[in-house]
Amino acid sequence: MPAVAHSALLFDLEIVASHAASSQELMQTMVHRLAESLPVFNWVGFYMIDPAEPSMLQLGPFVGAPTEHVRIPLDKGICGAAAATGKTIVVDDVQSDPRYLACSLETRSEIVAPIYVRGKVVGELDIDSHSRAAFGPAEREFVERCAALVGQYLETRG
Ligand code: SME
Repeated sequence: MPAVAHSALLFDLEIVASHAASSQELMQTMVHRLAESLPVFNWVGFYMIDPAEPSMLQLGPFVGAPTEHVRIPLDKGICGAAAATGKTIVVDDVQSDPRYLACSLETRSEIVAPIYVRGKVVGELDIDSHSRAAFGPAEREFVERCAALVGQYLETRG
């Protein structure tokens, strides 16, 4: 996907964020927009730190195959690693990453970008693709900006 399409989509999502009544609504709309606009984004979802159990991620709004991984401890999976380190993780071939927790047999690559609020990780945006190495530098920048948009919303509007 060319950078211009990413920036057009981001522009739309900024408008969605400015009108969203809640962070749930923003995340819900975002997962649908991303999944319908980007053919290689085959599973798009949020995992948020459970405030009652901060060592655990809890599945939030998502689009794609249902997953058994509704709660993921911070020391498990690519999702746990991204939240624990606070760094984006890109996996070009999930079969070769021992951390990988399978959601769908069709998944080949994955990106997880943390969401920060006031310097703390509060959750993450997780995207799986049926294509190998679907997340290059342009996709990474785009996904990080989507995650940052949710972080900004949470920081300013709760
Ligand atoms: N693959 C993730 C688990 C989440 S599902 O893919 C939706 C992981 O390894 O943490």
